[in-house]
Amino acid sequence: SCCGGMEKEKTFAMIKPDGVYGNYSDKIKAIIMDSGFSIKRELRVQLDEDTVRSFYAEHSSKSFFPSLVKYMTSGPILVMILEKDNAVADWRKLIGPTDAEKAKVTHPQSIRAMCGLNTEKNCVHGSHSIQSASREMSFFF
Ligand code: PPS
Repeated sequence: SCCGGMEKEKTFAMIKPDGVYGNYSDKIKAIIMDSGFSIKRELRVQLDEDTVRSFYAEHSSKSFFPSLVKYMTSGPILVMILEKDNAVADWRKLIGPTDAEKAKVTHPQSIRAMCGLNTEKNCVHGSHSIQSASREMSFFF
């Protein structure tokens, strides 16, 4: 695009099946916008097993992988591209720790504390780094 260097940082965000099923999508999007992000792209999708395996390939050897694949195909998800200065770190901060049960104690204001249940059903995903954000945005958009 024009005007190189003027674009703000982007990150990849996902509302997982438990978040969509629990009707948290609109509430999460309101938090996103109230926190200064703009939602640049948005897509509701139903993943199949191969797509989940590919998206989470780095975790394929972990013991929880089969369970993660089953969970992530259990219903539709909402994927988004968010834009803001420091978007990657700020979105990670907003969602809170992976384990939603612990988040309720240590980060009660976080999104995972609000709508997650445990390390698997943790409601939302956020890219860990600029590099993973780039990969995950191109994976879906
Ligand atoms: S790691 O090894 O530190 O990278 O793992 P972590 O970031 O904690 O988790 C990676 C993703 O796997 C999910 N996860 C699990 N799913 C099911 N069962 C168990 N026990 C489990 N532990 C972790 C976790 O929700 C992470 O998903 P994302 O979408 O990356 O947040």
